[in-house]
Amino acid sequence: MVSQWASLTSAEQSAMLGISGLNAAQADHMIENTVGVYALPMGVATNFLVNGKDVLIPMVIEEPSVVAAVSNAARLFREGGGFVTGSDDPIMIGQIQLLDLPDVYVAAGAVMAQKQQLLAEVNALGGSIVERGGGARDLQVRLLPQTPVGAMLIVHLLYDAQDAMGANAVNTAVEYLAPQIESITGGRAHLRILSNLTDQRKARAEGVIPISALADDPIEAERTARGVIEAWAFADADPYRAATHNKGIMNGIDAVVIATGNDWRAVEAGAHAYAARDGQYRSLTRYWIDEANRLHGWIELPLAVGIVGGATRVHPTAQVALKILGVDSAQSLAEICAAVGLAQNFAAIRALATEGIQRGHMRMHARQIAMAAGATGMDVMRVVEQMIDENNIRPERARAIVQALKGQ
Ligand code: MEV
Repeated sequence: MVSQWASLTSAEQSAMLGISGLNAAQADHMIENTVGVYALPMGVATNFLVNGKDVLIPMVIEEPSVVAAVSNAARLFREGGGFVTGSDDPIMIGQIQLLDLPDVYVAAGAVMAQKQQLLAEVNALGGSIVERGGGARDLQVRLLPQTPVGAMLIVHLLYDAQDAMGANAVNTAVEYLAPQIESITGGRAHLRILSNLTDQRKARAEGVIPISALADDPIEAERTARGVIEAWAFADADPYRAATHNKGIMNGIDAVVIATGNDWRAVEAGAHAYAARDGQYRSLTRYWIDEANRLHGWIELPLAVGIVGGATRVHPTAQVALKILGVDSAQSLAEICAAVGLAQNFAAIRALATEGIQRGHMRMHARQIAMAAGATGMDVMRVVEQMIDENNIRPERARAIVQALKGQ
């Protein structure tokens, strides 16, 4: 069905199934000392309605329950009209650290006086991003007057990466600019590298759930909605809880980021730094109940992902994932990631606020134990059901049931 939905060719289907996909020769070109290729499950999350459009979400993840939970949450948001998303222009930040300045304030003024000229020089370098209409957009200066090594001036290059993640282009641009900034300021340019706190490149998603959709019993539904708000308030007030709450968000986002061949460490770094932007590490989501008694969920975070360049182009399965998503820009991919993060978070805190997460988890866990005990095909579910009925989900029990089934 997924193949039909996305009109996958037979080559693309075999990449999705893991029959072909990334081969040793391609892997060898991607990193150093390659000795093999490591596979992970790719699932597809359902029920997502994003800006009025149905989307199937490919997710690469090793953790059971994540895909089921997010699909279930997306079904509830669908009842409220699906997700409405938005995003900033794909602006990356490149940093140049300037040291040994006689006066950081004078140096800052000197850089700003040359801004237009410097931006034009960066764009004159050309490259595929500039050809597609991107490139240097702005220069900003930040003063760090007191650091362990004295005052420093930080120059930010704001760079429109278009549909790329943009790391290479930004790093090239700041390395190119650094000597010119040294000569303008008389200082010494030290680090020249992008920032993963891509707070100029955020994506956001909002969704609504009619409270009546949360449970058949109206009192139970109200209690669940209130429970979700209480769970969110805990994460917003307590960094210990916020870390786990945001981890749940990243369960969903990382899975899409990995499926599409993007750099999930970069996305993780940006998300967590952004979560701490006011000095306390907090929730990346927010929930409230409106006057019409509907539950709203909202998320915003930096999302530097691309649909061209890097592994997104090289990895055959990443190409298939992008085709299934049907995205035509880096911004729409980022927005879908935001919607997935919100849905994943809602699924987790709803479960935590009601029955807890272990019940669902134990079923998936039982499946893994059954398979490890040698169950195959239909026997996997037989072993799972029996272990759950007996409330005895253990490898020894799984092995005994497998033996008994084989005997039959
Ligand atoms: C588990 O991978 C994620 C959760 O812990 C997230 C959360 O606690 O919100 C369930």
